[in-house]
Amino acid sequence: MDHDTYGISRWGDGLVGILPNGNIGLHDPLFPNNQPVDLAGVIQKLEKRGIQTPVLLRVSNFLEHRIQVINESFNEAIQQVGYRGKYRGVFPIKVNQQAHVVERISEYGEPYHFGLEVGSKAELLIALSQNVNPEALIICNGYKDSEFIRLALLSSKLGMRTVIVMESVRELNLIIEVSRELGIPPTLGVRVKLVNVVSGYWSATSGDRSSFGLSIAQVVEVVEILRRENLLDALVLQHSHLGSQVPNMIEIRKFAQEASRLFIEIKKLGANLQYLDLGGGLGVDYTGENSSSPNSINYSLEEYCYSVVETVGFEMNDAGFDHPCIVTESGRACVAQSSMLLFSVLESTSYESDGVVLAEEGDHPLLCSLIELSDGLSNDNLLESLNDATYYRDELRALFRRGRLSLPVLARAERAHQRILGQIRVRMESLDDAEWSEELNQRVQGMADIYHCNFSLFQSLPDVWAIDQLHPIIPLTRLNEKPDRNAVLCDVTCDSDGRIDRFVVADGVSDCLPLHSLDENEEYYLGAFFVGAYQETLGDLHNLFGDTNVVTIRLKEKGEFELLDEVEGDTVSEVLSYVEYEPKRLLEKFKARAERAVKDHGASLEELKELVSTYRESLRGYTYYESD
Ligand SMILES: Cc1ncc(COP(=O)(O)O)c(C=O)c1O
Repeated sequence: MDHDTYGISRWGDGLVGILPNGNIGLHDPLFPNNQPVDLAGVIQKLEKRGIQTPVLLRVSNFLEHRIQVINESFNEAIQQVGYRGKYRGVFPIKVNQQAHVVERISEYGEPYHFGLEVGSKAELLIALSQNVNPEALIICNGYKDSEFIRLALLSSKLGMRTVIVMESVRELNLIIEVSRELGIPPTLGVRVKLVNVVSGYWSATSGDRSSFGLSIAQVVEVVEILRRENLLDALVLQHSHLGSQVPNMIEIRKFAQEASRLFIEIKKLGANLQYLDLGGGLGVDYTGENSSSPNSINYSLEEYCYSVVETVGFEMNDAGFDHPCIVTESGRACVAQSSMLLFSVLESTSYESDGVVLAEEGDHPLLCSLIELSDGLSNDNLLESLNDATYYRDELRALFRRGRLSLPVLARAERAHQRILGQIRVRMESLDDAEWSEELNQRVQGMADIYHCNFSLFQSLPDVWAIDQLHPIIPLTRLNEKPDRNAVLCDVTCDSDGRIDRFVVADGVSDCLPLHSLDENEEYYLGAFFVGAYQETLGDLHNLFGDTNVVTIRLKEKGEFELLDEVEGDTVSEVLSYVEYEPKRLLEKFKARAERAVKDHGASLEELKELVSTYRESLRGYTYYESD
């Protein structure tokens, strides 16, 4: 069994594992003794119901478990440290706004008084429609107009704890005005800009360069306005956000310390602060490296909670202040693990060719030399042969460009070159690692097959394209077989950026993904894991590939599962209407054109019928490749 090709034991977090049959199994973290669910079996059952891949699969057990462990880890840290305040988490809706996700978070978070964070009017409308516990916080960040503020103030009449977090001094004047008009006193927070910077992808927009929050001078100004307006008691929360996916524990500690110091000083000015909101940033170990590299984290959830609670407690004790209620806005850490994108490989383009290329009379001497390399290949001259092959191939390409070589001859040269590469790779497999030079290894690894896959990077994994995010990607079957190919993945968009060429593997990150040769009698499925945060709403319609089918399942005992909800992906007709085409009108125009063809080009009526029905069917179809 080839367990660790993909480092699953490192990043799988006990949720993903390999079954004895070589398939991927999903383990229920709520009932670890339950039999895992075979993911390939899930795809089969979904297909029987007419739900094709690509499909975004959400696992409700994973989400429930994350909400539980985040809350319980904070509660445990509070006990261990002897902290006298509470923890109140909120989920930032922007991280995954999908109705089924937010509803479940509200449900699973209810016993923990888990609340919601919103950054816009639309998100506030979502939050106000949820059944959150009355003790839970609704935190309003983002720029607010009077309508936003009005809604937030009125929600207190529903018994909700809605905190309006000031993003600017100007906003305070508007809040005071609307609150007086409605006769509803506000519950306020202030967003402060801290000076600590963070490493990782959001480094450039953290600290002084952060776009959000009030500077120290503005915080003092706000406090003075509140004092003048007799509203100092309304200021109950201090908010700051370090950045997302913070990889390094030391940075989190320093940030919590700075935030605590500021909290103490604002309180000393007379504000009634009760909640210390430390924003998001709790990361996910996508690579399982447990390091401070951008797609990993060098701490555990328990360590995060303990460090935050201890740091805040220490600063408060030092200043002789009561322990505030700690709030975090962890988004990624709540939802990333609960979704995965499942897709099939449509075909592969092999980098090397097995076919023997024979020299022909009159062949160019460079081509003859390239062909002869195969015969002279030995374990001692692998790098030398690769150098020669590359040189001959490049010279032959140059001759082609100058018009001195025909296309069929160049094709033979390319095949001869690929053949020698294949032979080098086969020899390397039979040798010990120590017998290759690192250069040879890197060059051969870099020559990868292309596996063409049925998904859109821009729609389903936008952060992979935009910020080089890494998601573990693995085959869902044949994990008891050693992968025999190295591949990069291409999606179905016709964009050269629609490609993945960085992967999580056993010993870190690699340019190629080890995969199995395709078997034409069997579908080969891959899964991209931990895609529940940010990916669903940032995706776009590149090449008009729309939303995928989305399914939520509940893992049950004995390896079974229950389908909780199913949302059909976009049809072609739907994506066309997003870009302002009216499908009905398109069909009419097409029909008119087809009728003209009957008149002008002698197409038969049968052909006309076929054309129109194919067009109509295509409008109803899934935007992705549909297997017959
Ligand atoms: C204000 C605020 N809170 C919370 C978050 C969520 O951060 P994360 O997903 O890293 O927990 C963000 C996202 O960047 C944010 O801007």
